[in-house]
Amino acid sequence: MPLNQLLRHPDNCCANLDAWLNGVGGKALAIALNDPATLIPTIKAAGLRGLGGSGFPAYRKWQMVAAQHQFGKRYLICNGNEDEPGTFKDRLLLEESPHQVIEGALITALATHINHIIFYINPHLKRATEILSNAIAQWQQSDYLQQISKALVKELVLKIIPSPGHYIAGEETAAIEAVEGNFPFPRGKPPYPAVAGVHGKPTLVNNIETLANVSHIVRNGAAWFQSLGNGGCSGTKIYCVSGDVSTSGAYELPMGTSLKSLIFQHAGGISDNRKLKAVFTGGPSNSILTADELSLALDFDSLKQHNAALGTGAMIVVAEGNPVIPHIAKYLDFFAAASCGQCPPCTSGTREMAQLTRKIAVGNANKHDFDSLCSLSELLPSSGRCHLVDGAVTLLKSSLEHFPKEYQALINKPFS
Ligand SMILES: Cc1cc2nc3c(=O)[nH]c(=O)nc-3n(C[C@H](O)[C@H](O)[C@H](O)COP(=O)(O)O)c2cc1C
Ligand code: SF4
Repeated sequence: MPLNQLLRHPDNCCANLDAWLNGVGGKALAIALNDPATLIPTIKAAGLRGLGGSGFPAYRKWQMVAAQHQFGKRYLICNGNEDEPGTFKDRLLLEESPHQVIEGALITALATHINHIIFYINPHLKRATEILSNAIAQWQQSDYLQQISKALVKELVLKIIPSPGHYIAGEETAAIEAVEGNFPFPRGKPPYPAVAGVHGKPTLVNNIETLANVSHIVRNGAAWFQSLGNGGCSGTKIYCVSGDVSTSGAYELPMGTSLKSLIFQHAGGISDNRKLKAVFTGGPSNSILTADELSLALDFDSLKQHNAALGTGAMIVVAEGNPVIPHIAKYLDFFAAASCGQCPPCTSGTREMAQLTRKIAVGNANKHDFDSLCSLSELLPSSGRCHLVDGAVTLLKSSLEHFPKEYQALINKPFS
């Protein structure tokens, strides 16, 4: 059964602060104000992972920011750039339950001594931004922000900054550049944002879904959160299912739900009762899953063991009978357009891979083109400052591995 802990939960679903505070809201914030030192240990024990794609344990970044000794401002960027194909969970969270996200951010700030909270939101999410802005105004009229400022011994500032809206602007160091008013070029690391982020100050970047979990964990305890997940992983995950399924949508389920259960039980199965051919995971920047992998648990650790990745939890489904290569060409085009231009191998490599794959998809390629594509997939990994190029190559390599016959059938000159 769907859990609906974060989405569509009757106690969370309101844009009115009084209603939120009369329901479940405010209780976790009271605990946080009373004893902020317990917050990081609670988040650690709960096993909350970064839900923006990396799955990095949330407490480790929090701990790093909290440990900084510099005076002055510290920043939290609540990452709502959400531009990856097939991913729409952060928009839903902001539209359905903005106070849950804001309270999570306030508690995170208390745990890490942060006094500048920036909601960094994709400008295309107009309705979400409006709802969030309204919700922030309500908190600003309450006395909570004063209480937090008092606890932090510095003024707490909350603001919304529209992101540039491109995919690359969601990468954490690109987000820091954008918040400073610059073009979102990813930075080299180290220094890590926790040490020197916005204007050289300690900065924590967390995804909207990660933050949405925080108040529930603090209110209900680490053991409760652990018990929500299947197997070794804690909590729930909002899986966004789209493509050739009967019922596309966002499904909040236990972390570690199987691919089979997600597609066939929750998303109504493959459209027109066809068979499953492929699933692009995590947007499309990870390995492709196939019908042989239906029993896989969709969580960070299980997929990693299987050389795949959960990413954002987006699952884009392709039915048997539909070609996969046009999808690969479309996603490689997306990565090529998103490349920021700082690293020549990424910029020209993603463009070249996209052109070659498009040529293959329309039947205009020869064996030489195919060989060039294969050699690019070997040359490009780790050649960029950020993971964009690696995501593009992972997708391509996975398609070459799983669908060699589809490639062969499209090449003009038969393979020797
Ligand atoms: C190309 C690229 C785009 C990204 N876009 C987003 C995004 O839109 N939202 C997001 O939360 N994380 C995005 N990330 C991941 C962030 O760099 C970062 O890991 C994340 O915001 C940290 O939050 P979390 O620890 O709560 O997951 C992106 C990463 C890359 C490489
Ligand atoms: S890998 Fe690509 S997107 Fe990332 S910094 Fe380099 S050029 Fe920009």
